[in-house]
Amino acid sequence: MNLENKNILIIGGGTGMGFATAKLAESLGAKVFIAGHNNEKNAKAISKLSSNAESRYVDVVNSESISELFGSIPSVDHLFITAAPGGTGDFRNAPLEIKETYIFGKFWSLYMITKIGIEKISKDGSVTFITGGFATKPTKGTVLVTAAFHAVEGFAKALTVELAPIRFNVIRPGFIDSGFWDFMEESDRKELFDKTKKTIAVGRLGESEDIAQTAVSIMMNSFMNGQIIEVNGGILPE
Ligand SMILES: NC(=O)c1ccc[n+]([C@@H]2O[C@H](COP(=O)([O-])OP(=O)(O)OC[C@H]3O[C@@H](n4cnc5c(N)ncnc54)[C@H](OP(=O)(O)O)[C@@H]3O)[C@@H](O)[C@H]2O)c1
Repeated sequence: MNLENKNILIIGGGTGMGFATAKLAESLGAKVFIAGHNNEKNAKAISKLSSNAESRYVDVVNSESISELFGSIPSVDHLFITAAPGGTGDFRNAPLEIKETYIFGKFWSLYMITKIGIEKISKDGSVTFITGGFATKPTKGTVLVTAAFHAVEGFAKALTVELAPIRFNVIRPGFIDSGFWDFMEESDRKELFDKTKKTIAVGRLGESEDIAQTAVSIMMNSFMNGQIIEVNGGILPE
């Protein structure tokens, strides 16, 4: 299977792993749609891609916005979702308002996107979700992240049965220097990066392109289905 003239929708595609995937997919001949909730970022991303790429607005926690997105795209061969709004916090103080939490932003948004978009997705196509290392290695304050990641991974496995033959897979990245960590003070970020590098067997942090290669390979491999693929450089024992 190749990506020539395939329609690829990347939700969260304006930055980070999503954008790297858009770039790789378009270099392989795909028609790429990137969708996100910041039109300025979308426009900036599109300006770095070829004229074969288009952007769309979507807010993944809003079902009407998701319906408008799928209404504006004729068909989708491969869908990759990287957007994940929402927060966590220590268990005692995390808010009960589910819409503010990672369960809603990470899991329920994927449920809504898949349910609303499913009739547009090709039968020989694929859907790829993202979780992360907290799925198997929680730290204090990640209760909602870990719970949401398990929900997403279970959701993907169950969908391979209910919606066969459409393929569903999950990428579980390790620590990726994708711009995601730019919210941190530079000195704190450097300290975290240096500390984290020592825990990774290949001796470096991941890059968005590492995840892009995996995402594109899932799209192109029609026998890859129901898998959780770890891309983390190998984690050294503590
Ligand atoms: N980087 C890591 O180390 C790492 C490790 C494991 C897992 N992950 C997960 O991997 C995924 C991709 O991360 P990344 O590193 O590529 O980060 P990223 O660049 O922040 O990608 C997420 C994208 O989703 C968009 N987005 C956020 N809320 C949205 C909403 N409500 N509607 C539509 N789009 C929305 C973001 O836009 P705005 O920036 O405008 O909000 C951003 O463009 C995330 O789910 C993250 O949790 C990351």
